[in-house]
Amino acid sequence: MSKNQKNTPKHKNGMQFEKAKDFKKSIKRTLKELKPFKTLVVFALVLATLGSVLSLFAPDKLKELTDTITDGLVVNKDNIKTLNEEIAKNFQTGTPKEITIDNITISITDQQQYIEKTKELTKDTTTNELYKKLDELPEPIKQVISPKINIDKIIKITIFLAILYMISAIFNLFEGLVMSTVSNKFAKDLRAKITKKINKLPLKYFDQHQTGDILSRVTNDVDTIGQTMNQSLGTLVSAITLFIGTIVMMFITNWTMAITAILSSILGFAGMMFVMSKSQKYFNEKQARLGQLNGHIEEIYTGINVVRVSNARECTKKEFDKLNKKLKNSNQKSQFLSGLMPPMMAFIGNFGYVAVCIVGALLTINGKITFGVIVAFMTYVRMFTSPLTQIAQAMTSLQSTAAASERVFEFIDEKEMQKEKPTTRLAKDKVKGNIELQNVIFTYDGNEKPTINNFTAKIKPGQKVAIVGPTGAGKTTIVNLLMRFYEINSGTIKIDNINTKDLTRENVHELFTMVLQDTWLFEGTIKENIIYNRKNIKNEKIREVCKEVGIDHFIKTLPEGYNSPVTGNEDISSGQKQLITIARAMIENSPFLILDEATSNVDTRTEELVQTAMDKLTKGKTSFIIAHRLSTIKNADLILVMKDGNIIETGNHDELIKENGFYAKLYNSQFEL
Ligand SMILES: Nc1ncnc2c1ncn2[C@@H]1O[C@H](COP(=O)(O)OP(=O)(O)OP(=O)(O)O)[C@@H](O)[C@H]1O
Ligand SMILES: [Mg+2]
Repeated sequence: MSKNQKNTPKHKNGMQFEKAKDFKKSIKRTLKELKPFKTLVVFALVLATLGSVLSLFAPDKLKELTDTITDGLVVNKDNIKTLNEEIAKNFQTGTPKEITIDNITISITDQQQYIEKTKELTKDTTTNELYKKLDELPEPIKQVISPKINIDKIIKITIFLAILYMISAIFNLFEGLVMSTVSNKFAKDLRAKITKKINKLPLKYFDQHQTGDILSRVTNDVDTIGQTMNQSLGTLVSAITLFIGTIVMMFITNWTMAITAILSSILGFAGMMFVMSKSQKYFNEKQARLGQLNGHIEEIYTGINVVRVSNARECTKKEFDKLNKKLKNSNQKSQFLSGLMPPMMAFIGNFGYVAVCIVGALLTINGKITFGVIVAFMTYVRMFTSPLTQIAQAMTSLQSTAAASERVFEFIDEKEMQKEKPTTRLAKDKVKGNIELQNVIFTYDGNEKPTINNFTAKIKPGQKVAIVGPTGAGKTTIVNLLMRFYEINSGTIKIDNINTKDLTRENVHELFTMVLQDTWLFEGTIKENIIYNRKNIKNEKIREVCKEVGIDHFIKTLPEGYNSPVTGNEDISSGQKQLITIARAMIENSPFLILDEATSNVDTRTEELVQTAMDKLTKGKTSFIIAHRLSTIKNADLILVMKDGNIIETGNHDELIKENGFYAKLYNSQFEL
């Protein structure tokens, strides 16, 4: 157990963006996992597409609006045409009459005056002269041909545009809603899957992977998937629709203008890409240096005492200053370059506007297009450039999704422990307490030599068994095998004559209680920590146990007594914490007990306390005690002396001392000082 407790959670220092090893495979795997949400995702994507398609019609309507307004600002050309035609017809008949246009009646004399005035117009008439002549026209005619804005039409177009924008916004809103629901549900499911998976993985997986790494998969990576999927999928679809749609609409409206807009935007983009590619180097450098600095700080602070004791302050300070300066430099460069982005983007947009305006103006002068087309294209330019940036951003997001899901699915797809086929069950209260290990051979994955070599031992109910031996002898490994944390390669382990292979692992775990060197307490009160996951434990029982262990008095002196929090509580020493775990073990009341170096973390006075507590704990139970201080196991019923995965001596203390072998040497050496 202690092997996988050594790793402190360590997140990838400052690494925010990682690339997937196999982008395609990872995205495919994610999509496969998304299948239960297929309908919702498709629905969201359709909404995104519709929202974009709708907004594509806006510029065309804007064009119409502009044209209607500009028409309303100059003389009424339509009416001049009608007037000319009506008057001409009227005079051709020989008997001219009054005519009515737009409800305005024009008398015969007025008509004659109009004919005379228009006759005076030649090619050389200047604008000023023209306006003078217009002023001299009779009042009814002036009314007919004066500029008039078609308010009705403008209102209609405006309402249409407003509705268009509104529906498009509603679509996008719903798309966002659906997508965020989907991605959060997806992330929740993934977290659930990972937690389930953790219980199915063999312990060797945890030996080979850092706890921090696994933690980061559950939290960071799943979070990244949830977030980036939310941002990238919808954006990508609507941006692509908008991009293609804008190109089509531009070509439908006017192809000369379309080519102008596209070329100018691409030119701008090429420039931006160039700057981006130059800046990427500094961003990478910045991340790497941030990681270095973080690593350095972590190292210094976790070892602050060593640093002080070794007078290494000057040296570490120099190293820190060096890293700090490097980070400052690359930060400065990358920030300057990323600061360039917004003005660059604005420049591309403006560059497009200018190009469209110039070409548009030329075309308008030649009468090829109306003023409204220029206005439409100014919108198109914006609609064309913004999806490009959005696509680029969505692709980066998708890259992170791929990288994160690769790590998450790698974990989910990890090989599980072999399925169990339990044939029997051992009830906790019916177990007598026999344990028999027969020719057990076990090799850790990746090790060449077996750690346990032909281990045979027979333990009777209620015996206190001590396992001693030099470091690395395989003591903890024996415990791991008893608990079935690892599967043995050959041999048998029997509890009450039943092969543990015929039981479920859970059943085996239920029969043992472990107290380890590293006290494991979770965030919660002392009481919660003692009860742990057992039910129906009365307060009196807890107090009784604590009295027996000898911490009742101490707990009562704490401000909140049994309800005081354990984590982050400086009032509780490590020895007292160990006593709390012993109390927990006592409440558990299982037939077998394992104490692996449970007293090595405490001082000799506390050790005595713990020792007494442990003696009470082991009463009537089959127990295994591993201890380096041999004085603590002197009273064991059976001592197994291990060396290199083998039992080399067995017997009780007196017998072993008499034998004057390895144990006697070990024991005496501890008292020679
Ligand atoms: N998870 C593991 N994977 C690979 N090898 C391991 C693993 N755990 C232990 N070992 C190796 O197995 C051998 C026995 O280790 P074990 O932890 O059982 O020793 P120990 O007798 O408990 O030592 P100590 O007194 O230091 O606790 C060691 O050589 C160790 O390197
Ligand atoms: Mg050990």
